[in-house]
Amino acid sequence: MGNDTVTVTNNATGKSAEFPLLKGTHGPDVADISTLYQKLGIFTYDPGFKSTGSCKSAITFIDGEEGILLYRGYPIEQLAEQSSYPEVCYLLYYGELPNKKQYADFDKIMNHHSMVNESLRTFYQGFHHNAHPMAIMVGVVGALSAFYHDSLEIGDLRHQEISAHRLIAKMPTIAAACYKHSVGQPMVYPNNKMGYAANFLNMMFSVPADDYEVNPVHARALDLLFTLHADHEQNASTSTVRLAGSSEANPFAAVSAGIGALWGPAHGGANEAVIRMLEEIGDAKNIDKFIARAKDKNDTFRLMGFGHRVYKNYDPRARIIAKMAKEMLGTTSGTDPLLEISLKLEEIALKDEYFIGRKLYPNVDFYSGIIYKAMGIPTNMFTVLFSIARTIGWITQWHEMINDPQRSIGRPRQLYTGAAKRDYVPINARG
Ligand code: CMC
Repeated sequence: MGNDTVTVTNNATGKSAEFPLLKGTHGPDVADISTLYQKLGIFTYDPGFKSTGSCKSAITFIDGEEGILLYRGYPIEQLAEQSSYPEVCYLLYYGELPNKKQYADFDKIMNHHSMVNESLRTFYQGFHHNAHPMAIMVGVVGALSAFYHDSLEIGDLRHQEISAHRLIAKMPTIAAACYKHSVGQPMVYPNNKMGYAANFLNMMFSVPADDYEVNPVHARALDLLFTLHADHEQNASTSTVRLAGSSEANPFAAVSAGIGALWGPAHGGANEAVIRMLEEIGDAKNIDKFIARAKDKNDTFRLMGFGHRVYKNYDPRARIIAKMAKEMLGTTSGTDPLLEISLKLEEIALKDEYFIGRKLYPNVDFYSGIIYKAMGIPTNMFTVLFSIARTIGWITQWHEMINDPQRSIGRPRQLYTGAAKRDYVPINARG
């Protein structure tokens, strides 16, 4: 038995088998049990994938115990401080930071793809004005595949790249159009003279009848929030994109599936849920009541924006966002009532045995909604903003999956607990 293997013994049969232990650049070793069934005739059972690595990946690394997040090896704190979202997109997709020429070329390509086909714009009319914008996003992004038959050869590297450029460039245009539809205003075309985040804000808030100037502080804050949300290794929506893409579905369909997975309140929908929760709390004096509810096993209420499957320490993204929220909205009592409630809520929760014992800390979504709100973004658009930012992560992970020599369709097995084999009974013979 080597140090680089693990041995599994099936005590029921007495049979043992050795499995290789794979070593990554960082993080715990991974037992390669892909031949477990072949060797021992058993499957593994891991609902929620708490101990299961689904792929090899060179994109993003998280150390949940230490609160570390790296994109292509670069710490999130350095990227947040010194980089920008478009540069992070380049880094994630191509694996290295761009030089000046590469950056300028990338910027030009992204601008080139920022408009959507005019007939795609008419899709919005089919949605009721009060449709949730995430519902529209799922439909419109999935529909992109209907427009690009020319470049959907998924094994073709150039086609993969064009699809990635199209998705990243068009997401702000598609997302802002969701908002415009909901308020009955005309959709605004992208302006290629503006930066990525500023362009999005312009498409959200400008109207043909009036002047509008993007607030540079808001554009910078949004760029930073996009950077912090850009990728997060094998989370639920990314795993959905990989799984959908593993059937060789086109990347637009796969990303649309990812948007659906992101929507849930346990995942990207938490930023919306946090604001609704803070509004429901309403006043710092009610916090204790809500903390008690979060701890009560008979109550389904959870402290939204708290806890994370991987981080058992402060989410490094939340630390950066909390700082930004305080800078943008001030810390003095009364400056922003929701910020005040959230700061107090965090303070109380972090001193509470229930949260300490379970290592529940604020996550990325705890403060992001407060900043979005301060920018005038409506609550039901928060998860849409997350989906814009995460598109680069989804498409980069899809790209890595499609080009993985070990790729095969994702097809988990199960522990069957249904009825034992039985014979069909004709309807007249049933009691
Ligand atoms: N409030 C109260 N209790 C909680 C919370 C919370 N927010 N999160 C976890 N717990 C408790 C949970 O009840 C369980 O207690 P016990 O061991 O007594 O049964 C324990 O902590 C472990 O929780 P879990 O549900 O087994 O942990 P998980 O890894 O399956 O869930 C999570 C992770 C993020 C879904 C969960 O913490 C949660 O629902 N948080 C609130 C929603 C949220 O903020 N989601 C955003 C996640 S970060 C952004 C993203 O991924 O998109």
